[in-house]
Amino acid sequence: MSITSTPKPMNTNASESDALRILVLDNIAQEGLALLEAAEGIDYEIQTGLSGEALRTALSQFDGAVCRSGVKITAESLEGNTRLKAIARAGVGTDNIDKPAATRLGIVVMNTPTGNTVSTAEHTLALMLGLSRNLAPAHASLLDSKWDRKKFSGRQLAGKTLGIVGLGRIGQEVASRARAFGMTVIGYDPFLSNSQIEQLGIEPYETVESLLPEIDYLTVHTPLTPETKDLISTSQIASMKPGVRLINCARGGIYNEAALVEGLNSGHLGGVALDVYESEPCTDSPLFGMEGVLCTPHLGASTEEAQIQVAEEAVTLMTNYLKNGEIRHAVNTVAVDPKTMEKIRGYLDVAFRLGIMMSGWHGRAVESVALEYHGELVEQDTRLLTSAFCAGLLENVADHVNIINSSALCEERGIEVATHAKRDHATFSSLISVTVRGDGITCQASGTLFGKDMPRLVKVDNYPTDAYMDGILLIFTHQDIPGVIGYVGNVLAQEGVNIAQMAVGRVADEVGGRAIGVLNLDSPTSQESVDCVAQFDGIETARVINLPAHGELPDWLS
Ligand code: NAD
Ligand code: MLT
Repeated sequence: MSITSTPKPMNTNASESDALRILVLDNIAQEGLALLEAAEGIDYEIQTGLSGEALRTALSQFDGAVCRSGVKITAESLEGNTRLKAIARAGVGTDNIDKPAATRLGIVVMNTPTGNTVSTAEHTLALMLGLSRNLAPAHASLLDSKWDRKKFSGRQLAGKTLGIVGLGRIGQEVASRARAFGMTVIGYDPFLSNSQIEQLGIEPYETVESLLPEIDYLTVHTPLTPETKDLISTSQIASMKPGVRLINCARGGIYNEAALVEGLNSGHLGGVALDVYESEPCTDSPLFGMEGVLCTPHLGASTEEAQIQVAEEAVTLMTNYLKNGEIRHAVNTVAVDPKTMEKIRGYLDVAFRLGIMMSGWHGRAVESVALEYHGELVEQDTRLLTSAFCAGLLENVADHVNIINSSALCEERGIEVATHAKRDHATFSSLISVTVRGDGITCQASGTLFGKDMPRLVKVDNYPTDAYMDGILLIFTHQDIPGVIGYVGNVLAQEGVNIAQMAVGRVADEVGGRAIGVLNLDSPTSQESVDCVAQFDGIETARVINLPAHGELPDWLS
């Protein structure tokens, strides 16, 4: 294990204790480290080769972690972590990070999707050419003092058909380069339409199976998922033409390695070129040394250009998130740029407060939530608002809830969350309404924002109101008769609790009907007083709900 500690230079504005701490877990380009070095208010350390308990302990002491694919950030290594806020992967694949575990803990996982695209596409072509022209064995033979021109005669790419499975960033770059070599390119990607594929100069196929008999070369550029694991195995190889050459620069496991050995041994496969392996690092494989096999140790992204780009990008993603809350290229949450954040910050606060409010007002196990967004708000990404509501709903139920993990935590608890957006402008330019159900009880509330930062509760169940959604709320429903408000004021006065604000509302504005009172209190009231309020003739329910004070935002929003 190599551990290097890089002390922060003196140009930081932050004191030791309030500096944000970033841990670099794999070797990244110097240019990325230089950005960390220059970042104000950031301390960083490089600790490579960590695993097990050492990794868990290290991760618990930092706000952010930057890695490549070397370190394995498992659920165990994140267990109990209450500090880490983000992991930035300098590269594309995040399969070395347990994303569900990170999400549960509210940790954003980001990657740098474009920095190494061209390098990996070029490496794919290099492997295709190397395989076709026997470069590696010819080179080794020459070093062995042999001049064998016949044995290493190869095949042209021009005129051949290349099959590409996965037509994302790298797949598309490979396609354009292969076409420049005079190849016919056919492809399969279930997430792209036929016309999108055709526009790339690629003939679309409906299934992998239908494409396989047509090809002279196959390259895969998909992530490793349950669908793509063992995508190419014995039966798929059997359906290909004899002499076909297979290349994998994506993830080990997409080709079944035992099936590759079998295919080479039988002579059905003309060659196999691998940059990635079922298990990495891989220094021993039955494939190594077999005729027609060309292997590199996961070098697709290993160019100066790609490494500089991904390191700089990962560090920038990390520092922007830790300092400004900007989320880009997140693989486990919605992206949010600072401009959008500024626009919806107030409503995120409303949604969060409504969540806390509903958890207290409903007061029982929640089974489902139905959120409705109305008016101008609908133009924004309402998924964030939903997450903010869920964070409020669980605020007093679970530890370390934030907008990254709240939806997953609701799902874990079996809470169904449905959302609906309506462009209508009712009474308010924007409104969030919610219905919470569970344990036979249904509760409703609506909230809006006055100005930039004044959350207002405008409806509770069927009662219209206009209450400040701040601090300690005493909410009681009652008969609209004289004496109720005076009685409640009296109970509070007896224990010296001052009423800061008060809002009352009546169903259908009917005198003598059913009404609600929402009081903002300057200090906490005792359960005894709340019970006393609830027992008064004419009062049906009384409940205290503790919301954040005015202007107080949760960590993830401030
Ligand atoms: P990408 O997300 O841009 O593209 C992946 C494509 O795969 C998408 O278009 C998606 O629709 C498609 N896809 C997903 N499931 C599929 C399936 N079942 N069948 C067919 N297509 C499917 O990703 P990318 O940047 O092009 O990267 C592709 C792969 O390459 C990733 O696994 C990445 O980790 C790997 N990669 C390897 C190296 C290396 O050093 N060898 C470098 C960079 C990326
Ligand atoms: C990636 O996913 O970006 C590549 O596999 C390259 C790397 O691991 O650095």
